[in-house]
Amino acid sequence: MKGKEVIIGVTGGIAAYKAAELVRLLVKDDILVKVAMTKSATKFVTPLTFEALSGERVIHDMFGQEGTVIDHIHWGQESDLIIIAPATANFIGKMAHGIGDDFLSTCVLAATAKTLVCPSMNTRMFENPAVQENLSLLKRRGFIIMEPGQGALACGTEGPGRLPEPDEILEQAKRLLSDQDLSGLKILVTAGPTTEPIDPVRYISNRSSGKMGYALAKAAARRGAEVILVSGPTCLNPPPGLGFCPVITAEDMRRSVFENRPGCDIIIKAAAVSDYRPRDCAVQKIKKGAESISLELVKNPDILAELGSTIEGSPSVLVGFAAETENLIANAEKKLKAKSLDMIVANDVSRKDAGFETDTNMVKFIYRDGHIDDSPLMTKDKVADLVLDRAKALREAVLEG
Ligand code: PMT
Repeated sequence: MKGKEVIIGVTGGIAAYKAAELVRLLVKDDILVKVAMTKSATKFVTPLTFEALSGERVIHDMFGQEGTVIDHIHWGQESDLIIIAPATANFIGKMAHGIGDDFLSTCVLAATAKTLVCPSMNTRMFENPAVQENLSLLKRRGFIIMEPGQGALACGTEGPGRLPEPDEILEQAKRLLSDQDLSGLKILVTAGPTTEPIDPVRYISNRSSGKMGYALAKAAARRGAEVILVSGPTCLNPPPGLGFCPVITAEDMRRSVFENRPGCDIIIKAAAVSDYRPRDCAVQKIKKGAESISLELVKNPDILAELGSTIEGSPSVLVGFAAETENLIANAEKKLKAKSLDMIVANDVSRKDAGFETDTNMVKFIYRDGHIDDSPLMTKDKVADLVLDRAKALREAVLEG
């Protein structure tokens, strides 16, 4: 996201503290962040907090700060996106009715950048027809409104009105800042491990955290694709704005993949599917007794191989991953051929900084024609974009015949 510029407009609500985390996340993504605060916002969080996090001057007083004479005009015209978070009922009303009585409201009035509004207030206030009509008016005028979260609010009530979590706002912001080069495509991604039950309290699984698959799903959605994420059990939150299908076993994953396959343009299988499962799952917890016991395992369906054997003639591009601890290229090439894939992404999972559980990965892209493409060690988010660039090119080549 280097080269992008975002303005965070903080208005006076209790959720103003969450805007600090949002600024931190945006800066971490190499985005230049400028913060403008209303006077009441400064009662909740000090400008110094935002200054320290953004490394930029924070404007909170139209006339009281040096060098701000026409900043309210420049800021919204030079930035790529304005995010109002939290957006109070009062500030939403001002935006809807063209009121410009402080730095932030005049900045929004003069802006040419897209504006993302993240409402946050008491449920009754949020449901008040005046606020709802103001939000509808803003929507009709092209403002992007994020639905507030549900749950316990600071005022003690329950219902809609919570500021969406900073990582959700970040994801929405990244979508608005990204080229929509995958728009019109349906992409299915699998992620995480599968777990195969032994008895009600034990299972066989593997070390997949889901990070690689979730990075792929998020990047595809950010770039405008319709995304279905079929995920085994992980500790990650389902990314907003995509079709999320949670599964547990390889059989569940197979069912979900084939149910969602119709109409898919690209399928990417980053999940680590258990190759075997216990023949029987004990109804009760197996008791400790004998010195040794045996567990009979039977083969699980190979979902990718089944997809590969039935995908011929359709325009879908099929991408697999290979997790190897030795003979990376030779083993991955075998899987590419055996499963009739268009491309396989091979990762050496014996490395400490790649493969399972890490935030980084180092992969080789191996194609059907034998061509191999290398990538250096990078974040899984960046690897995800490289995988999608290549899958998109393969899809275009298929369509061109
Ligand atoms: O989740 P993370 O912690 O971020 O880790 C990422 C990862 C290491 C899991 C990921 O980068 C990766 O390599 N995923 C594939 C892991 C794997 O199971 O590889 P494999 O070589 O055993 O399988 C080859 C391919 O066949 C995979 O695309 C797999 O999804 C698919 N497969 C395998 C077995 C099976 N029964 N059905 C399948 O569809």
